[in-house]
Amino acid sequence: MDFKQNINKNKLPKHIAVIMDGNGRWARQRGKERIFGHENGVQAVRETVEAAGELGVRYLTFYAFSTENWCRPKKEIDTLMELLVKAIHNETPELMEKGVKLATIGDVDSLPEACRKELFDAIDKTKNNSRLTVTVAISYSSQWEIVNAVKNIARQVKENKIDPEDIDKKLFQTYLQTHGAPDPDLLIRTSGELRISNFMLWQVAYSELYFTPVLWPDFRKKHLYQAILDYQRRERRFGKT
Ligand code: IPE
Ligand code: IPE
Ligand code: MG
Repeated sequence: MDFKQNINKNKLPKHIAVIMDGNGRWARQRGKERIFGHENGVQAVRETVEAAGELGVRYLTFYAFSTENWCRPKKEIDTLMELLVKAIHNETPELMEKGVKLATIGDVDSLPEACRKELFDAIDKTKNNSRLTVTVAISYSSQWEIVNAVKNIARQVKENKIDPEDIDKKLFQTYLQTHGAPDPDLLIRTSGELRISNFMLWQVAYSELYFTPVLWPDFRKKHLYQAILDYQRRERRFGKT
């Protein structure tokens, strides 16, 4: 079946967010170290970016590393960070060619210097692209993001720059790292886990959730098309009748 052809271009999700999960299990199934799974996950990111760009999706967000992932063995973290640096470096020319603007959310200060530098170089190089915005969530957790927002609002209140009575949904959103981008219409999680794992808790309030058993390194264009088709079959009501 040609999934791509069945996609309604007038009903595309504007923003797709992806929890890329299952790299470790993918490697284990092949008798390899977990990092082998992470390495093979890069191709899945590449395909997803390409497919989304070709269709005309405007925002794509990847959950690459959570605040909680810092609790993994040091060796896995170090290799993962090296892989991130390498991938960002290698992919930047492709991002330029495809008109992709790179962005990041998360606690960038906690990243190793080399990683931060590569990331901000790529963000700077791609800043004038506008076809598709790809945001990578690194050292990100939604609770961290929300607590930070509260802290910053509290500071403003203390300095009499914000009246507590003026704090509403709209104002709060401007203190989140995702401000400026629309909330995800579609959230995809791979590997069969049915949870959100501290990802964009505020922003997914009305997102359509799509879970697939496919392990992230196996995720290909056709899987993205399937997710979008599933999304297009749903009726979004936003609390209305
Ligand atoms: C997702 O794959 C990538 C990261 C969280 C960094 P995992 O590494 O969580 O793989 P599994 O879930 O153990 O299979
Ligand atoms: C979620 O995957 C985080 C990322 C994909 C970066 P995890 O593998 O860390 O989530 P849990 O531990 O299964 O909830
Ligand atoms: Mg996992």
